Amino acid sequence: MSPVLTQVSNSLRDLFEDARRVAVLTGAGISAESGVPTFRVGGGSEIWMWRGRPVTELSSRELLATDPKLVWEWFDHRRSMLAEIRPNSGHLMLAEWERRFEEFTLITQNIDDLHQAAGSLRVLELHGNIWRARCRRCGSTFEVRESPIQEVPQCLACGGPSRPDVVLFGELLPEGVFERAEKAVQNCDLFFVVGTSAVVYPAASLPIAAKQARARVIEVNPELTDISVFADFTLLGNAGQILPQFTQGRFEGNSCDSQRIN
Ligand code: APR
Repeated sequence: MSPVLTQVSNSLRDLFEDARRVAVLTGAGISAESGVPTFRVGGGSEIWMWRGRPVTELSSRELLATDPKLVWEWFDHRRSMLAEIRPNSGHLMLAEWERRFEEFTLITQNIDDLHQAAGSLRVLELHGNIWRARCRRCGSTFEVRESPIQEVPQCLACGGPSRPDVVLFGELLPEGVFERAEKAVQNCDLFFVVGTSAVVYPAASLPIAAKQARARVIEVNPELTDISVFADFTLLGNAGQILPQFTQGRFEGNSCDSQRIN
């Protein structure tokens, strides 16, 4: 089990300040403090339900094949929720880190666009973006900001029916994006895993790959996860509170050690 801390210690700040190549994987938890519900709680034992169906069924390739209208309704429900939501201090910190490090790669499983809203310029979106649609006939993608939508958006290029430009369960990730994430992970010296239960693959393989590539792995999550077993450090807390501590003032003396809880 990795050391579990409740705040950023001076030695972690040293690690952060010395790092040159940093990669970060985020999940739903980074948006939780903005008011976006996460998918799972209790390590995956409880899952987000809507109209009596679990998210794994609503966001599935099978449902898109049989009931595309329902898939649009589900994503439209989420779009309506997101329309009023703003990035929090966790997103803002990561946008700042992009400018701080020689190499910085932000990899997200989130489709909510909040990293971009916070100012992150280069985001590897593993699971797509909820504000984009993709034509089911010609494959063109286009932005759809209207919320709620009145009807299924038609492709601007060919008039074909569209679908949300997100990765559904049972589908492959967008071409090239995961490969770029893997490459960044292979090359980084510090890897952060923030706000993910790390149960959905292939994203969940990235922290393992980082560890195998001998990067230091730091997890930020209010709950312990499967990552906590092999991370170099687990920071037990909310991303919006923990991430800003890396660039805040140092603790005096050894007070940081008292924060260690295992
Ligand atoms: N700060 C950091 N982490 C948090 C916070 C917070 N404020 N609040 C909750 N968390 C943690 C939870 O403890 C949990 O471990 O965020 C994690 C969210 O996990 P999930 O809901 O499983 O979300 P995620 O890991 O992003 O799911 C992966 O599953 O359903 C699919 O496609 C969807 O991209 C998603 C994928």
